[in-house]
Amino acid sequence: MNKFRPIFPQLGGFAHGGDYNPEQWLDRPDILKKDIELMKEAHINVVTLGVFSWSVYEPKEGEYHFDWLEEIMNNLYANGIHTILATPSGARPAWLDKQYPECMRVDAYDHREHHGLRHNHCMTSPVYREKVKNIDSRLAERFAKHPGLLMWHISNEFGGECYCESCVANFRKYLAKRYDNDIEKLNHAWWTTFWSHRFTDFDQIDPPYETGESCVLGLTLDWKRFTTHSTCDFMKAEIETLRKYNRDIPVTTNFMEIYDGLDYQVLAKEVDYISWDSYPLMHNDYESIEDTFLRTAFCNAQFRSMKKDRPFILMESAPGLVNWHGVNKMKRPGYGKLMSLQAVASGSDTVQYFQWRKGRGSSEQFHGAVVDHIGTNDTRIFREVADTGRTLKEIAEVCGSVQKNEVAVIWDWDNRWAIDDARALSNDSKKYEDTVIGIWKELMRMGVEADVISQDMDFDDYKVIVAPMMYLLHEGVGERLAKFVNKGGQLVASYFTGYVDESTLAYLGGFPGQNLKELFGVIAEEIDSLYPTESNYIINSYGGRYEVKDYQEYLRVNGADVLATYEGDYLEGRAAVTRKENGRGSAFYVGCRLDSKDMRWILDKALASAAVELTPLPEGIEHHVRYSDDYRYDFYLNVTKEAKDVPCSLCEDFIASKTFAGSFVLQPVESTVVKRKLTK
Ligand code: GLA
Ligand code: ZN
Repeated sequence: MNKFRPIFPQLGGFAHGGDYNPEQWLDRPDILKKDIELMKEAHINVVTLGVFSWSVYEPKEGEYHFDWLEEIMNNLYANGIHTILATPSGARPAWLDKQYPECMRVDAYDHREHHGLRHNHCMTSPVYREKVKNIDSRLAERFAKHPGLLMWHISNEFGGECYCESCVANFRKYLAKRYDNDIEKLNHAWWTTFWSHRFTDFDQIDPPYETGESCVLGLTLDWKRFTTHSTCDFMKAEIETLRKYNRDIPVTTNFMEIYDGLDYQVLAKEVDYISWDSYPLMHNDYESIEDTFLRTAFCNAQFRSMKKDRPFILMESAPGLVNWHGVNKMKRPGYGKLMSLQAVASGSDTVQYFQWRKGRGSSEQFHGAVVDHIGTNDTRIFREVADTGRTLKEIAEVCGSVQKNEVAVIWDWDNRWAIDDARALSNDSKKYEDTVIGIWKELMRMGVEADVISQDMDFDDYKVIVAPMMYLLHEGVGERLAKFVNKGGQLVASYFTGYVDESTLAYLGGFPGQNLKELFGVIAEEIDSLYPTESNYIINSYGGRYEVKDYQEYLRVNGADVLATYEGDYLEGRAAVTRKENGRGSAFYVGCRLDSKDMRWILDKALASAAVELTPLPEGIEHHVRYSDDYRYDFYLNVTKEAKDVPCSLCEDFIASKTFAGSFVLQPVESTVVKRKLTK
């Protein structure tokens, strides 16, 4: 049972706020005063300060100015507004780069970058680390005990790589440690005898420069792991500095959607709460609004599942539009609020925006904000934000509750990287991300929300696990999956599973490797790629016929039941989908790529065998459930522009104090929360 624990008990409910940059307005006390008035009107109770304030804190090396921040934090606090304080390491003052050029990154062509932009410092530079430690210490010394301080926000949106001398040296050290100082272990893991790429010393190893090595797949993968490692190490150093001044302030760092440059699972372990920045391409011309919402719901699920015993934080979202998409669409009326409540429904204890007020100049001057250049409270966006704030107050008791799901989908960075770099399949249609997200969305449409877990996370809490394209297996995963199935779990895996180990060495003796060919009762002997214009079909025993696109495996069946066979091509009549009972559970293998809606009959079987309850939903209604110790809260979101009749047996209590019997009408672009006491 979870302990019902809101992230910010001080707030008595949800955090509602966003990035605030008063340092851009220090010469306009009238505006700073107005900000507080408007924040109160919009029901704002938290702001994120200091994300990019270094050049104001320390305009010259060794000269510090924090009084302005203290005044701002004091004023906010006096008005009931708390602060999440960022460390300023995400962007460097010009003096720092001029004086210490080694803080600037070196790119994959081995060129030192020039000063500018942000999020582009070297992660291993001892000088940069020292400068960051200094500014963080001074910030923490002054503010770590401020009564308005809720949380530390470490840097901003970590990402990218550096190929400088220091990073190269650290990469070599990292490899020496990983391979026990034994170059032969590395040679074996990377299969370097191929093309005469053997090393005799760790010092001979370079990172994968653009003009250098790109064919030693183990090297590329270890470089990505190293980039995660050095970023995480940088972040840990910042956290350690801050903790010296007050151990009780929790820390977070803001993640980005489905960013693939860092293994977020590694960073997640080092922070107290997961937070992320949500910028979906709203109202686009290539997918339905339901799909856009579900994709964002997937991101929420991904971040929620990194620490599923506690709520997460929606750190940034755009009020209105952003300014960096190809086409910057305004969020249509009601959709901003609906998406904010979607985050809450998914397990967030906050709704936060980027940004509070639009700046006058530079590249984000036309990015959406709660307060526009017009500066008043009567804009459509301001009113919608205020309305969101009101609703959050009404549902304050939901704060601290968490989701509890019986189904999980596996989504794994090592696997993503390995698939991306694999010289196999068809380059244009690997689509690992789309495949995983497609299946997760299909489960939502079927009325079941899944967690999104890595292959290393605990499988014990789940009844059904879906593992699409699990090409790379970490050691022991096969055994853990077998245990899961034998104890009664239902496992659904697909083509391109268990081909390589964590060094990208192919398994010998038949795919899927480890013990999985026994668990599934199949061997995948060949994998065929199809041209985009080609398809095959599979047929199941209920007369279902489903199109195969992109990939089809030639399966040899060893003890599994055949659920569907191929219709055409040289695979005609051969097994395409199988199931093998193992102990109390079973393992499904889907040997070809089906559209996710054509996976339904297979998912249905797995869910039914595991007795997972599906919530019946009309099209366009999204459903999420949060649990506190005593209650469950069912959220229903109508993402369409039509009123919908929603079946619902939970008719005991609407938080909005409406009543209904058996079903209720959800107006277009509206949401509601239904509350029910849990029977113990
Ligand atoms: C990111 C950054 C913010 C801002 C927004 C704009 O999420 O963290 O500083 O640039 O994008 O959408
Ligand atoms: Zn570097």
